[in-house]
Amino acid sequence: MEETKFLSIKEAMKQGTGKVSVRGWIYRERGSNALKFIVLRDSTEIIQCVIEKKIVGDAKFEAVSKLQVEASMTITGEIKADARAPTGFEISVSDFVIVGESDTFPITKDQSVEFLAEKRHLAIRMRRMTSILKIRSAYVQARDEFFRKEEFFRFDTPILQPTQSEGGSTVFEVKYYATKSYLAQTWQLYGEAGIFALEKIYNMGPTFRAEKSKTSRHLSEFWMAEMEAAWFDLHDVSEFAKRELKYCIKQTAERCPDEFKLLDRDPAKLIEMCEKPWLTMKYRDALKLIKEKDGIDVEFGKDLRTEEERAIMGHYDVPVCVTHYPVVAMGFYKPRDPEFPDEALCFDMLCPEIGVEIVGGSQRSLDVEDMSKRLRADGEDPENYSWYFDSRKYGSVPHSGYGVGIERVLTWICGLDSIKDAIPFPRTALRWTP
Ligand code: 4AD
Ligand code: MG
Repeated sequence: MEETKFLSIKEAMKQGTGKVSVRGWIYRERGSNALKFIVLRDSTEIIQCVIEKKIVGDAKFEAVSKLQVEASMTITGEIKADARAPTGFEISVSDFVIVGESDTFPITKDQSVEFLAEKRHLAIRMRRMTSILKIRSAYVQARDEFFRKEEFFRFDTPILQPTQSEGGSTVFEVKYYATKSYLAQTWQLYGEAGIFALEKIYNMGPTFRAEKSKTSRHLSEFWMAEMEAAWFDLHDVSEFAKRELKYCIKQTAERCPDEFKLLDRDPAKLIEMCEKPWLTMKYRDALKLIKEKDGIDVEFGKDLRTEEERAIMGHYDVPVCVTHYPVVAMGFYKPRDPEFPDEALCFDMLCPEIGVEIVGGSQRSLDVEDMSKRLRADGEDPENYSWYFDSRKYGSVPHSGYGVGIERVLTWICGLDSIKDAIPFPRTALRWTP
């Protein structure tokens, strides 16, 4: 017997006429005594299929009539253009095979956010979710291309780590045999060791923060996309971050126009934004701006809160790199500006529309004494970081890096209400199942 060659629905639509075989899941169904309409979906598209009793016979027609949404099947028939069909094509079915029946699918319209979260393993089949997931995949693939073109090496590091690195208050502790370890808050400290071997490196990995605040911007487990490079200073690294994001967003918009449109986002606008210059301003100037324009008064020395980040970004339609945050509010590894020692050589990139931080990065401190002092102030024993300080002892060089919150970027470019939809299975303070 000749083996059936299955096309994806998108490929079948491209073929446009003649005999095709497709397979997938029932997206919608309706019917009468003699005629059944099934909209079939696969990962590429949906297509209307018409099944006639007089063609498939009584027994098969009865079987298909009983099928519910999400049952899986293979279908063979004649495809043709039909303006009335939901995606402009229709298959007149000559034969089909039922692969897996479906119980009544619990996901229907108008369900609560909580119910959908509980049924997340099923909810990811919805077209809105598949569009977001395709955009996520395209974005990450574009990022790999970017770093390959820039001749960076991928450098993989442990998730189980002996210390915290971004502040003890959000670190997850894990039992590690007879002792304890911590889940990675960042790849950075290992990345810094790595540049002495490979100079220009990048990675993307699961990153953990026990965030107490329940917001639409925080996950407990997220994917941070980091880079670290020898010889880069703050200017080099913040400009590089702009290039990375412009490349990735533009490529993603070009590759996923239909997915963006399904989310009511205009891919052309994203591309246009990537062709404009993106700005850089000092923290001090950002404070001046929101004081003058928005009447928000922040004294030098505080990290920016959401409300302030939003106020700054209310004035721009492209991302902005805010640099030179106050040292007192920053991690121990962010160096002091030699000219203004209370300002750190660091940057956060804030995005327009939702006004949140999407990238955090800095030049790296080479001053072991200053870092030890700041660690002590944070209740840490600098002794535990001696391996990290070794890089400053054996041929230290200036270097810089940053981390991109992949889900933050997706939340922004996809126009999502919550960061939870930017990842297939979100983990938050309130939920870590299914
Ligand atoms: O600004 P952060 O904390 O920077 C670092 O961890 C540096 N060590 C990175 C580096 O220089 N290699 O985190 C980087 C980015 C943030 O800008 C934000 O986009 C994202 O990671 N992020 C989160 N995303 C989702 N949920 C959370 N709880 C996040 N915390 C940070
Ligand atoms: Mg940050």
